[in-house]
Amino acid sequence: MFGLHRLEQIKENNLFSPYNPMIKDLLPEFSLGLSPMDEITTPEYRQICKSYGADVIFTEFVSSDALIRDVEKSYKKIAFSQEERPLAVQIFGNDEKALVDAALRVEELKPDWIDINWGCPMKRIAGKGAGSGILQDIPRMIKLTKAVVDNVKIPVSVKTRLGYDESDKPIVETAERLQDIGIQLISIHGRTKTQMYRGQADWTLIGKTKENPRLSIPVFGNGDIDSVEKFIEYKERYSLDGILVGRHAIGNPYFFLQCKQALKNEPVFNPSLQEKTEICLRHLHLSAQINGEERACTVMRKFYPRYFLGVRNFKPYKLKLLVSKTIEEVEQILSQMQADCN
Ligand SMILES: Cc1cc2nc3c(=O)[nH]c(=O)nc-3n(C[C@H](O)[C@H](O)[C@H](O)COP(=O)(O)O)c2cc1C
Repeated sequence: MFGLHRLEQIKENNLFSPYNPMIKDLLPEFSLGLSPMDEITTPEYRQICKSYGADVIFTEFVSSDALIRDVEKSYKKIAFSQEERPLAVQIFGNDEKALVDAALRVEELKPDWIDINWGCPMKRIAGKGAGSGILQDIPRMIKLTKAVVDNVKIPVSVKTRLGYDESDKPIVETAERLQDIGIQLISIHGRTKTQMYRGQADWTLIGKTKENPRLSIPVFGNGDIDSVEKFIEYKERYSLDGILVGRHAIGNPYFFLQCKQALKNEPVFNPSLQEKTEICLRHLHLSAQINGEERACTVMRKFYPRYFLGVRNFKPYKLKLLVSKTIEEVEQILSQMQADCN
């Protein structure tokens, strides 16, 4: 029951609207989610990953400045279908007013929640104090996040990294401070800002964040999950509320299904070349419906090498796919590849 006392407490703390469910209530006991990836987790690819069992979906990040300037391309990136729920729209920025105004606009689109990116290490983002650039100034990260939490009615989450560099990894304390100002979920990539994507993700501090008895919000771990075995090992070892998969899900949307089958000790889906081709073509057609044929053929170029990773003698087909301009052309190349490589 939602007692009066609880309602008053919510109003006082302004933690979340009582009319919106909490993130916790939207998640299964354990979530296997699709990590946000710029120009990868497009509306069409998110739908495909969802169809293979991704429990939680994040859009790729969009700039708060672009949203408040009504940049159409940014709104296209975060357009979503009902089937993708629970879904979070991810925003980034470094200016308080722009972040709040963008969050208010995103709220009107009715995603399940808003995720703030405090993790991107790319120079064009972090160099301006957005993404993981903010990890040099945690009080500002808390202030900007609080401004968003206080101004929207839907829940807010944060995706971030362990800290700025090797000598500064305050994630356990940062997660607590973020919880105290009202975020409802934290996703942690086990690297620092200066590490970019180098070295190996360190999950021990992600585990410690989860173990903190003062932390009650869900904690998702992220970084370098690249096999079903590693997924199961890390799920068991760190007892997190969820794991996000990024790069290994590119061209491998059935990874979500494989992980779930393995958890249930069921035989794991091992697609034939024909099945991989069918999945890839489904992706291409969906992309064409959304983006038009020409753009779809361009967008798909970064996916082909991943869909057909490990296929012997793929190289000549890859070279043709990378310059293909029509669906018919792609279909012909793939059909020839199947005939030759099977
Ligand atoms: C191409 C690419 C684009 C990315 N774009 C985003 C993004 O928009 N937002 C975000 O929070 N993280 C982004 N990331 C980081 C991933 O979500 C994830 O944290 C990181 O890749 C580590 O997880 P993985 O080892 O499973 O890939 C991106 C990563 C890649 C490789």
